[in-house]
Amino acid sequence: MEVTNDIATVRAIRRAQGAGTLGFVPTMGYLHEGHLELVRRARAENDHVAVSIYVNPLQFGPSEDLSRYPRDMERDLTLLSAEGVAFVFTPDDAIMYPPGFQTKVLISEVTQPLEGARRPTHFAGVATVVAKLFNIVQPTRAYFGQKDAQQAIVIRRLARDLDFDLELIICPTVREPDGLAMSSRNKYLTAEQRAAAPALYRALQAARALWEGGVRDGMRLRGAMEDVLAAEPLARPDYVSAADPDTLREWDGAIPDGASVLLSMAVYFGQTRLIDNVMLAGA
Ligand code: PAJ
Repeated sequence: MEVTNDIATVRAIRRAQGAGTLGFVPTMGYLHEGHLELVRRARAENDHVAVSIYVNPLQFGPSEDLSRYPRDMERDLTLLSAEGVAFVFTPDDAIMYPPGFQTKVLISEVTQPLEGARRPTHFAGVATVVAKLFNIVQPTRAYFGQKDAQQAIVIRRLARDLDFDLELIICPTVREPDGLAMSSRNKYLTAEQRAAAPALYRALQAARALWEGGVRDGMRLRGAMEDVLAAEPLARPDYVSAADPDTLREWDGAIPDGASVLLSMAVYFGQTRLIDNVMLAGA
């Protein structure tokens, strides 16, 4: 497994792969099973796999956790070398954003609600770094997690709108046995907060149960999630949403036949902000 922070080296490795297909998994490191499942899927579907590890400052707001974002490069590389990864791209800020850098990728609509409303510069940072990574790595397929549902929607828009010649694969959320979605940020939780955190998944399941019972009302689905969260004293909801997965507009009142629903939420436990979601597919 080659490890490099150099763009020209990445391009040379990619050229040497010739016509071989390349699966690419962009990450911010501190890898867990959620990331590794993306790597395994990429390995199964391509001749070669590339992973990037880069904590992208452009996608963190001024009051967010950039400086304390967890990092463990040595452990990450050990995990990846056991997964048959061809190369890992580990750039730093001087390589990604050298002096004079001034270009940003702005996506106007699907970035506005939900995460975008609370983190106004976040998706411009994500789209900009992902566009750069796609151009540097030149993958055949790129793998993202459903865990970050709005991010996946934004990247799909990016790939279509800017004609990236690659296939996007969105992979299911990997969870702990108690339902908590795996996340590098789970490490911030105290023992009490960790014990309370499965409330997100329980809330999503409560709304899913209503949906499966035939409820087609956005307000009722949100209400079911809010009730579960309200019963957990350590949970402070930031938002709770039942939205159209194409437009991310909230469903208020009756949901039309055949329409799908993205249930999603962000919830604070102390300073730590967790997100989770479940897709309900229309018949
Ligand atoms: P990061 O949070 O490290 O996540 C990297 C990829 O792993 C994302 O596609 C994310 O959705 C996926 N992932 C995280 N937890 C997961 C889980 N429990 N199950 C399945 N997939 C999971 O997302 C980012 O980094 C960055 O925004 C990035 C795309 C790398 C751009 O900087």
